[in-house]
Amino acid sequence: MGALKGASQPFVFTQDACPERTPSAIEVEVEGLREAHPLVAQLNFGLIMTKAFNQHSTQWQEYQEQPWGRLFYILSNKYLQPYIPNLPSKILDLGGGNGRSSIVYAKAGHNIVIVDLAENLLNDAKRSADEAGIIDRVEVYNCDIREVSTLFSKPEFDVILCHNVLQYVDNIEDIIPGIVNCLNINGIISLISMNQYSEVYREIFHELNPKAALDNIENEEYISSTFKEPIRLFTAGELFSYFQNFSLIIEDQFGIRCVNDYISDDSIKEDPTFFTELEQLEFELGRKYPYNLLARFFQLIIKKIP
Ligand SMILES: C[S@@+](CC[C@H](N)C(=O)[O-])C[C@H]1O[C@@H](n2cnc3c(N)ncnc32)[C@H](O)[C@@H]1O
Repeated sequence: MGALKGASQPFVFTQDACPERTPSAIEVEVEGLREAHPLVAQLNFGLIMTKAFNQHSTQWQEYQEQPWGRLFYILSNKYLQPYIPNLPSKILDLGGGNGRSSIVYAKAGHNIVIVDLAENLLNDAKRSADEAGIIDRVEVYNCDIREVSTLFSKPEFDVILCHNVLQYVDNIEDIIPGIVNCLNINGIISLISMNQYSEVYREIFHELNPKAALDNIENEEYISSTFKEPIRLFTAGELFSYFQNFSLIIEDQFGIRCVNDYISDDSIKEDPTFFTELEQLEFELGRKYPYNLLARFFQLIIKKIP
């Protein structure tokens, strides 16, 4: 393993620092099976999704630039903003990909660390940081987030972003202690995942497909539209239950995209006036019960207490 080519100092590409990780038996097995039988891809979504992200970093960026992609980042950032401490804080972005959620904080003067398995996305993060002239405040680790306890063995972060990543990881209960351990007391975890309940609404309102909506009522799996691979669907309560044995409290709960995904006309969202008004509506709905409960994503602001 080696440093990313072109990484200038003091930007640290720390693949060398990642603990050597031998693929697990299931990963080796799945890899062999996948090559022989492409249809078994769904056997291990974590491994396969990472490959998908690596191979489709351009499609991922295109998704981020769509109106609904932009809404996701605008809203999640606005909801988190009041919980970001004074400068300079230290922010860990787990599964941070190309840094779209966290580079904004480096631009504001905070120090960020991105951990992700997809090297291509980390290259994109590095490029964005370079262009913005903030490379000295961005550190990236090309690692599995399952290594978090090895990478960061003591409390050092004020904020940890877990945005749309835990649904790709098997046995998440194994990594939660490491995540909580590297968070400072009074630090914040911003936890975002796709809302299990939203899929029924998306199928009926966006796809106009009552049969698929009916089939999805109890469904805990979703096939990613960008990558055609399955991911897990959680409810907010179910995902928080993995964190509840620690000294953590939910400070706030938001819904991201309470209506966008249920409007079947996607082209109207390109209209600047419509988009601005939609963004204002989404921002208000996402912080109001009961509208926030059926949003496409939930965002929990979790605080570590003494
Ligand atoms: C849906 S993207 C979200 C990216 C980013 N958090 C954001 O909101 O823009 C999921 C990311 O998780 C990463 N990922 C998935 N499983 C991972 C794992 N076990 N360790 C590290 N990264 C992982 C993928 O490579 C991808 O960048």
